[in-house]
Amino acid sequence: MPLEPDQTTPWTFAPMRRKDIPEVMVVERLCFHDPWDKSAFERETVNTFSRSLLARDASGRLLGYAMWWVAGPEFHLLNLAVHPAARRQGLGRELLDRVVADARKDQAEFVALEVRTSNLAAKTLYQHAGFHTVGVRRRYYRDGEDAEVMLLRLDPPSR
Ligand SMILES: CC(C)(COP(=O)(O)OP(=O)(O)OC[C@H]1O[C@@H](n2cnc3c(N)ncnc32)[C@H](O)[C@@H]1OP(=O)(O)O)[C@@H](O)C(=O)NCCC(=O)NCCS
Repeated sequence: MPLEPDQTTPWTFAPMRRKDIPEVMVVERLCFHDPWDKSAFERETVNTFSRSLLARDASGRLLGYAMWWVAGPEFHLLNLAVHPAARRQGLGRELLDRVVADARKDQAEFVALEVRTSNLAAKTLYQHAGFHTVGVRRRYYRDGEDAEVMLLRLDPPSR
């Protein structure tokens, strides 16, 4: 699928295809101590309830991505990452805003996610986008760290 030029940002956005996975895995490994493996990404390209967006610069370089699940009234953000060299330029927020816009479009009731308690950058990003911590999953990550469950409630659609 050709990338649609975006009028309002320096990035282009398109869903992840199977052929994108090797590139995505390079960024994933730069972003996470416990990166997803190939089969996890492959699942996201075939699950009917999975959605994704890859962000590229004008030369086509992959800079970041978001992956989420649609589960009835809940949109669940699974993965959000920005290449270390492309951070603090608004791309994380742009990807998150697009996930939230997708949830609003589908009249979801809330967007949920888990984040490491130590992940200040991500927690700040989510808080600034209106997410609140609603609970903790003890020892959620393989290394034993807790996850905070964060939620953004969406306004019911006006009639
Ligand atoms: C979290 C992450 C996606 C943010 O991406 P980003 O493109 O740098 O984020 P943005 O530039 O859109 O930042 C938006 C806001 O988030 C907050 N933020 C981002 N990085 C931050 C940091 N290192 N420290 C504190 N606040 C931070 C700031 O409020 C920032 O706004 P500002 O730059 O105007 O101050 C990126 O740091 C990342 O990929 N981290 C590793 C993977 C990860 O932890 N993903 C989240 C899993 S739950």
